Amino acid sequence: MAEELLIAEGTKEERYKTLIPQIEALLSDETDWVANLANLTAAIRQTFGFFWIGFYRVDGEELVLGPFQGPLACTRIPHGAGVCGAAWATNTTQLVANVDEFPGHIACSSESKSEIVVPIRDSKGNVSFILDIDSDELNSFDSTDKEYLEEIAKIISQSL
Ligand code: SME
Repeated sequence: MAEELLIAEGTKEERYKTLIPQIEALLSDETDWVANLANLTAAIRQTFGFFWIGFYRVDGEELVLGPFQGPLACTRIPHGAGVCGAAWATNTTQLVANVDEFPGHIACSSESKSEIVVPIRDSKGNVSFILDIDSDELNSFDSTDKEYLEEIAKIISQSL
């Protein structure tokens, strides 16, 4: 698929609800994970205009930078380090209202102020990728983002 992305006007929830079926369509047309995650970063960023959105892939004891949109980012993150490493180590979503208050936060960009990190699991339930979204404003993410981004993570899991 290479059609134009449809973006709902209105609430965050309406935007996610319009985005999700398009993500499913994108992923059903292609099997290459780089191509799929690259297009997902574009679809999510076009919909919400996030400061930084991208994926990290689990590789041994580190996360390695994958497809992303936004400023340059750290390429490798050790297990348990920063918000991404915590999401990986605990296999749970990390919602951080103020990154300065998160112990060990990795400041790839000093402009990043809040973030949400969602684990993507393989068929055995182990974390295989991390979805990381950063904002240049404090307190940008809430339970609505968590709910829909976890749904997106599940859709990605099924396509990997
Ligand atoms: N914020 C992340 C590092 C990755 S960058 O923000 C792109 C963290 O503390 O894990």
